[in-house]
Amino acid sequence: MKRLLIVHHTPSPNLRAMYEAVRSGAAADEIEGVEVISRPALTASPVDVLEADGYLLGTPVNLGYLSGALKHFFDQIYYPCLDETARRPYGAYLHGGNDATGALRALDSIATGLKWRAVRPPHVVTGEPSRADLEACWELGATVAAELGSV
Ligand SMILES: Cc1cc2nc3c(=O)[nH]c(=O)nc-3n(C[C@H](O)[C@H](O)[C@H](O)COP(=O)(O)O)c2cc1C
Repeated sequence: MKRLLIVHHTPSPNLRAMYEAVRSGAAADEIEGVEVISRPALTASPVDVLEADGYLLGTPVNLGYLSGALKHFFDQIYYPCLDETARRPYGAYLHGGNDATGALRALDSIATGLKWRAVRPPHVVTGEPSRADLEACWELGATVAAELGSV
């Protein structure tokens, strides 16, 4: 059984909708052999990361960067997980008021440092997520889960 860890900061209903769509896709019936674990970013530990085989990350854009919560997560896990988790697959979703550029750059830089492998580009939403946005979030979750399990 492979383990997929969702690490998320979810401070608003729009982010909640995206999180639930991602989680639903990750747990899709068609994908076998994957256990989905979810942790708020402020509680996720290096052990959670070491014990997982792939990652889904969700965050708002705050002050032109990742949320402090997701940054705190990376600060906690970076060195303890640097050697063990290289080449593991990940995906991400971001929600911003208008501009996610800085947060996307930061996420790419951190994931590059960890040598994590993006299964698909991050999905970025501003405002209320449309039906297409939520479908894209579902696809994101399903794609990372399918990378670990069998369809
Ligand atoms: C302190 C703070 C800083 C923010 N900075 C940015 C920012 O730099 N860029 C951006 O696109 N949105 C920014 N936002 C908006 C958040 O991304 C947004 O509130 C979050 O994604 C939740 O959106 P919602 O309340 O519409 O669901 C900021 C919000 C807060 C509270």
